Amino acid sequence: MLNIENLTKRYGKFVAVDNLNLHIDKGEIFGFVGPNGAGKTTTMKIVCGLLDATSGSVMVDGVDALKSPDDIKRKVGYVPDFFGVYDNLKTMEYMEFFGSMYGMNRDDVDEIADGLLELVNLSDKKDVFVDTLSRGMKQRLCVARALIHNPDLLVLDEPNSGLDPRARFEMKEVLKNLGAMGKTIIISSHILPELSEMCTSIGIMDRGHLVTAGRVDQVMNHAGGNTRIHIRIADMNNFEDVKKEIDDDNKTSAEDVERIHRRMLKKQMQKRRIFTGF
Ligand SMILES: Nc1ncnc2c1ncn2[C@@H]1O[C@H](COP(=O)(O)OP(=O)(O)OP(=O)(O)O)[C@@H](O)[C@H]1O
Ligand SMILES: [Mg+2]
Repeated sequence: MLNIENLTKRYGKFVAVDNLNLHIDKGEIFGFVGPNGAGKTTTMKIVCGLLDATSGSVMVDGVDALKSPDDIKRKVGYVPDFFGVYDNLKTMEYMEFFGSMYGMNRDDVDEIADGLLELVNLSDKKDVFVDTLSRGMKQRLCVARALIHNPDLLVLDEPNSGLDPRARFEMKEVLKNLGAMGKTIIISSHILPELSEMCTSIGIMDRGHLVTAGRVDQVMNHAGGNTRIHIRIADMNNFEDVKKEIDDDNKTSAEDVERIHRRMLKKQMQKRRIFTGF
């Protein structure tokens, strides 16, 4: 579905995306993870035909995103990281507006918009002004409008940012349903565990480079996502002492922390005349 080869994007001398190679199959939900400035938005905009590349090639289902940006816009639905929602429109009018931008007739738009608003759980908000929707509802509305022209590929740039846990859960359900419908989805986030629950594959990007990409379990192992850390605090009243010991020691290895922790624990237990085998 998506084939990115040797993609590079420079802003002046600064390299935002450096020789990126990425392949995403049809029906995949691909999680794009990376810290601020990694190059996620830049890559996504290029895939959506919204930004020129410096070099490389981007093919979406056989269409060249760099050479045919207009054709790409019919194939791709894009939810940007920051968006406006035309406050003076009601929810259904908002959907109709975007449908008309794709040259769809009013009846088709209304029928499709009905289904999409149901999908994103906004059927009861059709006749309210979009500026009265909550942030989570606006995000879901944006997903619905990005689907109005039935794109093959849906690109979502941090759709969960600023959402509370319940709204995140609702967004996750929407994306799961879209996945079940066979849509190919790219979704970006800063948080790997959040994406690992809903994606089929993951790519981690940092400073313009793709650090790793593959199936969720492979990437989680690579990133140490399955490592368990056990933390025991012997006595909250003496927690300041533990912190001070660690600060004084100024060492950060796991062995050092464990050694300090054992020492503190032993001290406290001795104070209480409890036998320890340490
Ligand atoms: N129009 C621009 N002009 C100059 N530099 C830019 C421009 N757009 C982005 N950059 C730079 O390119 C790099 C990648 O930015 P990008 O927005 O793609 O990162 P990101 O991974 O989406 O980050 P975030 O998680 O903060 O959204 C950053 O260093 C950014 O400052
Ligand atoms: Mg971004």
